[in-house]
Amino acid sequence: MANKDLRDWLAAVDQIGELKTIVGAEPKEEIGGIVDLYQRKMGNAAVLFDEVPGFPKGARVLANILTSVPRINLAVGLPHDATEMDLVQWWRTYMREAPSFEPTEVNGGPLIENVLEGKAVDLTKIPTPVWHEHDGGPFIGTACLVIMKDPDSGWVNSGTYRVQTQGPNLATVMMSPGKHCRIMMQKYHERGQACPVAVVVGNHPAIFMLSGLEIPYGKSELAAAGGIFGEPVEIMKMPRTGLPVPANAEIAFEGFIHPNDVMQEGPLGEWTGYYAGGSRPEPVIRIETMMHRDDPILLGAIPAVPPNDNTFYLGTYRCGAIWNQLEAAGIPEVRGVWTHEAGGSRFWTTVAIKQLYGGHAKQAGMVAAHCHAGAYCNRWTIVVDEDIDPANINDVIWAMSTRLDTRDGLDIIEGGWSSALDPMCYDGDTDRRNGRIIVNACKPFRRKDTFPTVARSSKAMDEKIIAKWKKDLPAS
Ligand SMILES: Cc1cc2nc3c(=O)[nH]c(=O)nc-3n(C[C@H](O)[C@H](O)[C@H](O)COP(=O)(O)O)c2cc1C
Repeated sequence: MANKDLRDWLAAVDQIGELKTIVGAEPKEEIGGIVDLYQRKMGNAAVLFDEVPGFPKGARVLANILTSVPRINLAVGLPHDATEMDLVQWWRTYMREAPSFEPTEVNGGPLIENVLEGKAVDLTKIPTPVWHEHDGGPFIGTACLVIMKDPDSGWVNSGTYRVQTQGPNLATVMMSPGKHCRIMMQKYHERGQACPVAVVVGNHPAIFMLSGLEIPYGKSELAAAGGIFGEPVEIMKMPRTGLPVPANAEIAFEGFIHPNDVMQEGPLGEWTGYYAGGSRPEPVIRIETMMHRDDPILLGAIPAVPPNDNTFYLGTYRCGAIWNQLEAAGIPEVRGVWTHEAGGSRFWTTVAIKQLYGGHAKQAGMVAAHCHAGAYCNRWTIVVDEDIDPANINDVIWAMSTRLDTRDGLDIIEGGWSSALDPMCYDGDTDRRNGRIIVNACKPFRRKDTFPTVARSSKAMDEKIIAKWKKDLPAS
């Protein structure tokens, strides 16, 4: 049986009422403008654009994909109504067990419904939005896979790096230093060789999700995606480069990046909510083959003022990673971790613990703010008691308002690991560190048992009331 594809996920999303189809929006301003409005509130529907002026009916654009917990749940195979902490626990288990299946090669697939080679290649036939008003052009690759093969080991890496359409058979790719495909490209170039590359735009979101997060050096994202599906991803080889791409992808193209072949790229609005990187020369992909399904769907995951599609799903993964690293550092009784979407799922981390000893909360905060998964671009780390749901910002603010002892509950740490994208790092060019604040919003440990009683129903009372009155209660 064929793997689940983007269209299967879309049908499931539609079934839970989280898909909106919009016809007639044009791609230079309107699609991006509409997506921007949809992204401003978590849980708004995913948006599928059809009948894009100037393009055939059926050539669609899909965005605002993973900005709801139910849609991420469906992507990883959980029931859509699993809670935030169920999802975080799912990531913890996935990371611990690291299930993996090597992809299997199949003889073609829906992707080869349309094959364009040489002069027939034309990226501009795909409706590709200019996603924000001040972007440098249309970006075909946001929720994309950029696939390369290591020339030494044969390891195939898939990374999500933005890809800008630069002409019918030209695109640029922006890979930050240290990213796996950039390392591979450098190896080819050091040998004076062109680097083979394939770009896939439109997959089941599980495959995209893994390409956008830090699967370790030497490991294949396509094999790791098989671990989510519980079966190997079916791939086919692109004709010129032999690079593997999912056989049921929507759109794929391949070509070569030649040494010193660069073009001005960007800018693209960033996940921090600002333009930071500007416009720079970046490597050019000279495209030789392009393939797409009938009625292809371009998949977008758009960085913007958070909440945004670039970072929200990553946050759910990061919470699991922080939780695992807290436990590995010996912090007991962690009850939840949530990186708030308004902080781009990096700048704000909340950790819930059941306090066992004086200093426990401070220890948890210090580790969460500086462990590998939590340190990059952090600004706020809040520690709360176990009765606070870290994913409920009202509860978190209530705890910060009523349980913080400013005499020892606030720590400002200077010199943290940050990025030039952080508008408050010390100096983007020379010093990419920042300052951060750790807030102990737990009841003071010594007064924990004599602290005023909370004026809210207990869990047991909730359950009793819900059992009898469910139909008269507000949706939670
Ligand atoms: C939607 C999205 C867009 C991204 N864009 C870029 C980008 O343009 N350049 C980049 O270097 N990393 C980008 N990233 C981060 C990388 O995908 C991430 O670091 C990933 O681990 C890279 O793969 P690699 O570890 O195999 O290099 C993006 C992530 C997401 C989810």
